[in-house]
Amino acid sequence: MAEDFCFWLKDSLIIKPPKKNPLALRMVVLVFVMLCAVYISSLCLRQVGQFGGQSTGRLFSVPVVERPCEAANIEPSEKPYVHFPKPNTFSRDECACNPVRNFAILSTQRSGSGWFETLLNSHMNISSNGEIFSVKVRRRNISTIVETLDKLYNLDFLTSASKNECTAAVGLKWMLNQGLMQHHEEIVEYFKLKGVSAIFLFRRNLLRRMISILANSYDQNAKLLNGTHKSHVHSAHEAQILASYKPTINTSLLIPNLKQVEELVTKSLEYFKSTRHIILSYEDVVKNRTKLVDVQDFLRVPRQELKSRQVKIHKGPLSSQVENWGEIEKTLKGTHYETFLGEDYKLEKPSNASSPCCEILKE
Ligand SMILES: *[C@@H]1O[C@H](CO)[C@@H](O)[C@H](O)[C@H]1NC(C)=O
Ligand SMILES: *[C@@H]1O[C@H](CO)[C@@H](O)[C@H](O)[C@H]1NC(C)=O
Ligand SMILES: *[C@@H]1O[C@H](CO)[C@@H](O)[C@H](O)[C@H]1NC(C)=O
Ligand SMILES: *[C@@H]1O[C@H](CO)[C@@H](O)[C@H](O)[C@H]1NC(C)=O
Ligand SMILES: *[C@@H]1O[C@H](CO)[C@@H](O)[C@H](O)[C@H]1NC(C)=O
Ligand SMILES: *[C@@H]1O[C@H](CO)[C@@H](O)[C@H](O)[C@H]1NC(C)=O
Repeated sequence: MAEDFCFWLKDSLIIKPPKKNPLALRMVVLVFVMLCAVYISSLCLRQVGQFGGQSTGRLFSVPVVERPCEAANIEPSEKPYVHFPKPNTFSRDECACNPVRNFAILSTQRSGSGWFETLLNSHMNISSNGEIFSVKVRRRNISTIVETLDKLYNLDFLTSASKNECTAAVGLKWMLNQGLMQHHEEIVEYFKLKGVSAIFLFRRNLLRRMISILANSYDQNAKLLNGTHKSHVHSAHEAQILASYKPTINTSLLIPNLKQVEELVTKSLEYFKSTRHIILSYEDVVKNRTKLVDVQDFLRVPRQELKSRQVKIHKGPLSSQVENWGEIEKTLKGTHYETFLGEDYKLEKPSNASSPCCEILKE
């Protein structure tokens, strides 16, 4: 209606040829046309506004600006650690506004981090994506590292550990020798910027760790399990086969090696001490299941019982696990590594396969 009216006006004014003072007439026409244009567009805007509020708005599919998720019930001090990622590869649907925390398990090889990660992944809201940086191209330089982390923390790094849209904590397992120490300054910056929390997981008994490394690297060639190499096993039978190999430790290198690892661990704690973190030892987690509650609280996920199917490969006294025990004992006696010769850990309760604590140790 309004449009018709304006066009009629416009037409009638233009059709009539100007006789006197053509410039003034032209100005009048121009002003009219402009007024019409303003009037029509205001009408149109009002209409869109009306329809937008009704169910018929769908027909127009006017893109509605998404409301940003609110970090309600979250303490101000927690805000830097809370994220609402919008993955490119899928939609978070009903959990779009569930807060997500970023984490990284910082560890060394053969320190129980594989087992620890399977425990975390048994939680329905935790997604820990393994040793992403074991792939060299991803840790080539700091830009490839950041690119990979960005993808991970945006929930776009799809692995078998990726959970559904309701992930509340997302992370990875990162070994100190996978670019972490080398680029520590930039990574600490990144952790602060993206609110990444660090979970340090180290093994106290570095001698046991060393035996595990030697046995594992032996098996990389020997492939004791029917010609396939396995770093982690799921049955007592497999564990028994792998443990049948007893390495010989070069005792002239023993103390320097232990010292080197000890220094590496200390240095990593120093480098990353300014990030939000928790420090765990493998031995503590095995002995005291309350530590897993601590971890869940640290990640702010609902508490749940965590389970793993992995079976420990080496059990029993260390003296039965190496070829040259006497020599090793002699080397470490009187040094501050002497405690490594003793027992690794004692279970608080007698073994009972049906309780979660003992499932992992049942061999
Ligand atoms: C990092 O490595 C990538 C891939 O090799 C390369 O394209 C890029 O230029 C490198 N960036 C820096 C800062 O060296
Ligand atoms: C955990 O996952 C469940 C099921 O997927 C979901 O209903 C719940 O909201 C999630 N919890 C958090 C804290 O995100
Ligand atoms: C090796 O293979 C044989 C035959 O397939 C099977 O019986 C045996 O259990 C396997 N051993 C291991 C350690 O997987
Ligand atoms: C132990 O290591 C030292 C130093 O690398 C080496 O000289 C020696 O041959 C090694 N001993 C054995 C038995 O391999
Ligand atoms: C087990 O861990 C919890 C939480 O870290 C701690 O409070 C408790 O003292 C520990 N118990 C033992 C027996 O070490
Ligand atoms: C293990 O625990 C279950 C219940 O938790 C109990 O019924 C069973 O008798 C226990 N087994 C042993 C060997 O103690």
